[in-house]
Amino acid sequence: MLKKLNHIAIVVPDLQAACETYKTRFNAAVSALKDLPAQGVTTAFVQMADSTVELLHPLGDKSPVARFLEKNPRGGIHHLCYEVDDLDVAMAALIDQGATILGDGQPKIGAHDKPVVFLDPRDFTGVLIELEQA
Ligand code: CO
Repeated sequence: MLKKLNHIAIVVPDLQAACETYKTRFNAAVSALKDLPAQGVTTAFVQMADSTVELLHPLGDKSPVARFLEKNPRGGIHHLCYEVDDLDVAMAALIDQGATILGDGQPKIGAHDKPVVFLDPRDFTGVLIELEQA
């Protein structure tokens, strides 16, 4: 079902500072900041040859990452994103096995303009998993 790791997401207390850290310490290619009001986050992407790290910061009052930052004020790894060929097929198989899709259970358009869902960490070794159709 899983094709490849698409990105690792890190929630950070200061997005500009995090971008600077990656640029200056690693000489990394970092995208411009992008507000995603529908997802309640501001993002920046650290782009490497064949992998991406997504830096996230809460946006708005109802950000899904605000509580994570309260618990982890210095920031931390928030989720892993895996690519799947067909999100509907993957979701059906996982639901069949008793896994829980978070939120209203329906795919949303994610940070890369592709459909995504998040899976309950309790079903997956305590790690929040994003599945992206790609
Ligand atoms: Co993500």
